[in-house]
Amino acid sequence: MADYVLAIDQGTTSTRAIVFDKKGSIVSTGQLEHEQIFPRPGWVEHDPMEIWRNTGEVIGQALGKKQLTRHDIAAVGITNQRETAVVWDKNTGQPVYNAIVWQDTRTQPIVDRLAADGGVERFKEKVGLPLATYFSGTKIVWILENVEGAREKAEAGDLIFGNTDTWVLWNLTGGVDGGVHATDVTNASRTMFMDLETLQWDDDILAAFNVPKSMLPEIKPSSGVFGTAHGSSLLREVPIAGDLGDQQAATFGQAAFDPGESKNTYGTGNFLIFNTGTDIVHSKNGLLTTLGYKIGDEPAHYALEGSIAVTGSLIQWLRDNLGLISSAPEVEELAKTVDDNGGAYFVPAFSGLFAPYWRADARGALVGLTRYVNKGHIARAALEATAFQTREVLDAVNADSGVELTELKVDGGMIANNTLMQFQADILGVPVVRPVVAETTALGAAYAAGLAVGFWSGLDDLRANWQEDRRWEPAMDEAERERQLRLWKKAVSKTFDWVD
Ligand code: G3P
Repeated sequence: MADYVLAIDQGTTSTRAIVFDKKGSIVSTGQLEHEQIFPRPGWVEHDPMEIWRNTGEVIGQALGKKQLTRHDIAAVGITNQRETAVVWDKNTGQPVYNAIVWQDTRTQPIVDRLAADGGVERFKEKVGLPLATYFSGTKIVWILENVEGAREKAEAGDLIFGNTDTWVLWNLTGGVDGGVHATDVTNASRTMFMDLETLQWDDDILAAFNVPKSMLPEIKPSSGVFGTAHGSSLLREVPIAGDLGDQQAATFGQAAFDPGESKNTYGTGNFLIFNTGTDIVHSKNGLLTTLGYKIGDEPAHYALEGSIAVTGSLIQWLRDNLGLISSAPEVEELAKTVDDNGGAYFVPAFSGLFAPYWRADARGALVGLTRYVNKGHIARAALEATAFQTREVLDAVNADSGVELTELKVDGGMIANNTLMQFQADILGVPVVRPVVAETTALGAAYAAGLAVGFWSGLDDLRANWQEDRRWEPAMDEAERERQLRLWKKAVSKTFDWVD
């Protein structure tokens, strides 16, 4: 068998291809950013064609750097920014509109309309999610209602939908020439349309949203063969054998396979996932119930999720919108010019607040300002916002599960920031632990694909690959931690009721 597995990670800011060996070590990578399109306040779009072009290029980069060919690759796994909705014409392969990104809040009126009958928790028992702009469902409705001719074409069976996993999969397997229109259970669980128990699309919910079922992809296990790459691809005939939403993939890459295991990923947003095994657990504390993974015919694993919309993207905002720093890593240097936040608290409610508040009416606020506060304090407050939000999500996980997490496994771009990681341990009061391979998202997709084709023989192989790299121990005293939290919560309360 070939020596490697290739993962495609179609993320919010970039698309990457990463080649892994059997030990789960990175052999080669390719990466390209794509444009973030902000047509109006609260709107966030991507160009699906750019994403697909980039996917092809990054595969070429990753293979080319190490002179690899398709014969070196045993399988391909796909992972993706979840909830970002693409609707395209299956006869032409052309999207009818840009991808509407998970952070986009334009569908709030659709949410309100649907919630008028039964409230935002109307479908929660069945799908694990409250009605919110975050999920794909209302984005599809917006396209059907606002793009000329879309409704008629959809009713005629010409338009199909996918999160970006499905968009990449369909194109990679041939597009108009027989592309596979499928997704996995984890991505399907982010639409609002999948019944958590049957793992099938729910006809009643589809009727309530007025979305034709013919638009939706087939729901498959996360680990299993979806199809093979088309003849036009560098990966021709290589099986595509894994697909998971990026947060679930990171959980898989952290080898958090068992109930009670968890991880927290620091990306554009933060996402804490807590594995509940084969039990569907409904949160009483603002968490989502979601699919964890499904391997072939084995029973599905479920999870509780604490989703935070804005963490790393706040640092990008400091860079791109304020020009406070010229590159994201500089935020740490700036934060280190001061000893503390100087009394400033930054609540980045740019897309409202997700977990545990779910306040669509919230907007960002920087509070506690005096003339003493300088840009170092603001940088620090921006970093601390990530840690405070994570603490609130961890409290919710502890309350829902009835067990206190004794440490937090972390991954994602921001974990390179020691100042943040130390503050995170301080504000949680438990150690924060980083694995050697921090690219857990791509690794998880590679694992799912490799398992399906026998590249790895089982979960124990994968557990054996996990190694600790570094651990941050809490150093803040209890009274200070409580004081900080109290001030943070007060700052959060100032962000409510901003949308008229
Ligand atoms: O739910 C959104 C999440 O999947 C996006 O993740 O890493 O692309 O910011 P990321």
